[in-house]
Amino acid sequence: FATPTSFHENFLQCLSLHSDPSIPIYSPNSSSYESILQFSVRNRRFSTPTTPKPELIITALDESHVQAAVICSRKHGLHLITRSGGHDYEGLSYVSDVPFVIVDLLNLQSISVDAKKGTAWVQAGATIGQLYHNIAVKSRTYGFPAGICPTVGIGGHFGGGGYGALLRKYGLAADNIVDARLVNVDGKILDRKSMGEDLFWAIRGGGGASFGIVLSYKINLVHVPPVVTVFTFNKNLEEGATALVERWQYVADKLPQDLFLTILINVVNSTQRGERTVQASFRALFLGVVDKLIPIMEQRFPELGLTHDNCTEMSWIQSVLYFAGFPINSSSDVLVDRTPANYLVTASFKAKSDYVTEPISQTGLEGIWKMLLEENIPGLIFSPYGGRMSEISESAIPFPHRVGNIYDIHYSVAWIEKGLKASKEHIGWIRRLYRYVTPYVSKFPRSAYLNYRDLDLGQSKNGTASYSEAKEWGIKYFKNNFDRLVKVKSKVDPDNFFRNEQSIPTIPSWG
Ligand code: FDA
Repeated sequence: FATPTSFHENFLQCLSLHSDPSIPIYSPNSSSYESILQFSVRNRRFSTPTTPKPELIITALDESHVQAAVICSRKHGLHLITRSGGHDYEGLSYVSDVPFVIVDLLNLQSISVDAKKGTAWVQAGATIGQLYHNIAVKSRTYGFPAGICPTVGIGGHFGGGGYGALLRKYGLAADNIVDARLVNVDGKILDRKSMGEDLFWAIRGGGGASFGIVLSYKINLVHVPPVVTVFTFNKNLEEGATALVERWQYVADKLPQDLFLTILINVVNSTQRGERTVQASFRALFLGVVDKLIPIMEQRFPELGLTHDNCTEMSWIQSVLYFAGFPINSSSDVLVDRTPANYLVTASFKAKSDYVTEPISQTGLEGIWKMLLEENIPGLIFSPYGGRMSEISESAIPFPHRVGNIYDIHYSVAWIEKGLKASKEHIGWIRRLYRYVTPYVSKFPRSAYLNYRDLDLGQSKNGTASYSEAKEWGIKYFKNNFDRLVKVKSKVDPDNFFRNEQSIPTIPSWG
């Protein structure tokens, strides 16, 4: 047996052989190990004294460092996991049950926007906020359809799909990827041409972590008008929120593609009754001016009672700031800051997802509200589909949730108390809520969104699940695309080097 020290030494020697001496490596003895580890931890649930920690962290400075990390981890039988922005809901980019090494892409964050061609190359360690800022610096009429929270990393987000307020007009981030650079299991760098269409298909929604380490993506930028309109309209239960939410379900996916009208549902203190109540915030992005938006809303959703006064015109990049909770007159520089919002630093959370294909009845909604009132910091987000999402086939990329879905639900619960007892209670609550909504949401399979990772759907220790075990969660995330993912995986990584608790399994004869 190699002792831990000689084991480390052999690994380090291998790294120095395969890369230059500048490769930054941190062991638990390094003074900055803890701060580097914690820098991209976005869920306090996985930052406790008993949370397993990496044996080493490699903060790659260039592509060759990532190649060396793969070659040497494989050679020395080390479990390697990749972290870009660290937003994985279950901490899979920085926690594992078996000894592991992290390759952290934090320093690979260059972005080059070609405004003439309408394309950009973006490295996996950049954030979506950095991408939006870089696009806006070059052009007022280009945008990109990815998520809302600016600190989310490109690496995980694009690999699992990625969506935000441009979803209904342009689909997912992954729908707009046209090339990629990836380090494969042999430590080689492949682009779209050399990896082939099957692997290129898999890493756009199938979760990159099962197939390699994505270094960068090339994307097509999308057109946005110089003026867009936003609004937020809050209604609590006493003001008729339930009827409005119910009505929204008949409207939201059929609105013109230029209009994205989402609902955020929270528990607030009611000013009317001085008690806690449920509040529905109807929040919209319209790709056009307010004078065009009002008639659409009057015709399609008059119950909301939207007027000019509720609306604000702005540029697309200001709408990004607005949705992210910044004042709209801030400089877009704030999007570059990787320091996360305070709640992401202090809170633990658990989230789950569902797809809705038939409107939920008022009674069903009332049952959900009742449960929300049992918790301190619960939250729901209803994101409308339809539009472009219904035009793209279920098998175009591994993300399968297309035509027939009215909206998806993101359920979350956050807490700041520490300790296992608190965790158990809050997780118990969200599991009960998930059970409660069963009759109202998609069935056979009950679907889920990979980027809203949920280990309750099934998991395997160290990514060693059999095909039928992995199908438990695979079918929910990928529907009929699961088998094709298994085929690609079996071909490109037959020994299952790239794995995690919910990775795609291999079947040797399918390779
Ligand atoms: P992280 O680094 O944790 O990676 C996630 C997974 O991808 C891990 O399994 C990791 O190993 C793997 N991975 C990361 N980089 C890789 C690479 N370069 N190559 C191969 N594998 C790689 N989603 C959404 O669609 N719309 C939204 O608006 C939001 N908003 C949002 C807000 C907040 C606060 C959170 C915490 C999360 C979201 N999400 C979201 C979900 C988000 O899309 C999801 O968590 C992404 O996987 C995060 O990507 P990161 O790179 O930050 O995560």
